[in-house]
Amino acid sequence: MDWDALRDEFPITRNYNFQNHAAVAPVCRRAADAAREYFAHSEQYGYLNGGFYKRADRVRARLAELMGGNPDEVTFIKNTSEGLSLVANGLTWSTGDNVVISNAEFPANVYPWQALRSRGVQVRMVLEEDGRIPIEQVIEMIDSRTRVVAISSVQFASGFRTDLATLGQYCQSKGVLLCVDAIQSLGVLPIDVEAMGIDFLAADGHKWLCAPEGAGIFYVRKQLQGHLKPTSIGWMSVKEPWNFSKYNFEFADSAKRYDSGSYNLPGIFALGAAVDLVFEIGIEKIANRILTLTDRLVAGLKDKGYRIVSSRAPTEASGIVAFTSDIHDHETIQRHLQTEHRIVIAVRSGRLRASPHMYNTEREIDQLVETLPKH
Ligand SMILES: Cc1ncc(COP(=O)(O)O)c(C=O)c1O
Repeated sequence: MDWDALRDEFPITRNYNFQNHAAVAPVCRRAADAAREYFAHSEQYGYLNGGFYKRADRVRARLAELMGGNPDEVTFIKNTSEGLSLVANGLTWSTGDNVVISNAEFPANVYPWQALRSRGVQVRMVLEEDGRIPIEQVIEMIDSRTRVVAISSVQFASGFRTDLATLGQYCQSKGVLLCVDAIQSLGVLPIDVEAMGIDFLAADGHKWLCAPEGAGIFYVRKQLQGHLKPTSIGWMSVKEPWNFSKYNFEFADSAKRYDSGSYNLPGIFALGAAVDLVFEIGIEKIANRILTLTDRLVAGLKDKGYRIVSSRAPTEASGIVAFTSDIHDHETIQRHLQTEHRIVIAVRSGRLRASPHMYNTEREIDQLVETLPKH
C-alpha cells in the first residue's frame, strides 16, 4: 500500500499535521466531491433524474457490509446521539430495570440513559481503571434486572478498545441487549455485529470515516425491530412511504421504520464515498496501519518522559493515544502545537490526546514527538 499516494485524498495534509481524528476529522476528497456532485446536480436539475433515494440505499448496503449486518437492519440518522436516544426511548422499561454503562463514556452515551431515571431505571457505571474499562467489572454489574449494556467500541478519552465479542456473548447468554457507540472505531477497526452479538449500533461519519458531520448510521438487529418502538415517526417510517394519498400506517419491515422524513442526501453520499475508500484499502490494512503509527507515537512519547494512559495491549489498542505530563500544562501544549507548529491534537479528560489516521506519515508522528516539551 502506497500510503504517501493516499495523501492526495486528504487535502488537509497541505495545511496541517492533523492528528485529531477522534474529534472532528477533515472530510476526504472523494466525500467532498460526492457532496459537490449532489449540489451541482440539484442546482441544475433538482431531484429529476437523480435517483437519489436508490443511491442512498446503495450507501446503506455498503455500510451494512462494513459492520457485518444486513441492509434491512441499517438506516441513516443525523448523529450518534440520535441513535442512542432511539434505543433508550424505544425500549419498554419497568421500574427497577437497569442499564450498565461506564463512567468514561462520551456524554452522548450517558444522558439518554440518565433521562430514563424518571421512569425508574437505574444507571450503573463501571469505573475506568488506568485507562481501561475492565470487562470483568462490566459483567459483574449485570444482574437479572439489567436490560442494556451501552458502551463505546473505543473510549474517546483513553482510546480503550472494548472486547465486544466477549461482552456480546455474555450479554446474549443473559438476555441483555448490547448497544454500541461505534463512532470511535467505525472505518478504522473491524466490527461485526453478527459475530460480536451487537444488538444496536450508532455512529456518525465525522470521525474515522472522514465524512461530514450530521450523516450517521444506525443498526438494529432484525429480530429486535418489533421490540424497539420508533420514537420519531413520519411519512418515511412506513411500508409505502411514496404512497402519499393513502394513509396506511404500517411500519416498514426494516430499520427504515426509524426514519422519519427526508434524508440528508449530500451527507449520505459523502458518507458513501468515504466508505468506498475504506473498502478500496481494506479495513484490516487500515487497522494495521493505525496501530503501527500509534505504536511509533507511544514509543516516542515514552522516550520523552510522557506517561501513556492508553492500554496498548493488542486487543485494547486503537487509533487514540492519551498521554500526560507531570510538569507541563496540557492546554498550553495543545495550543502551542497548533498555533506555532500546525500540529493538531486535543485535550480530553485532563489528558493530551493524539489520534492519527492512516494517511499521517511516520515523519508527522516524529514531528509531534519532537515538538513536545522535554521532561
Ligand atoms: C464516543 C463518542 N460518541 C459520540 C460522539 C459524538 O456524538 P454525535 O455523533 O451525536 O455528535 C463523540 C464525539 O466526540 C464520541 O467521542
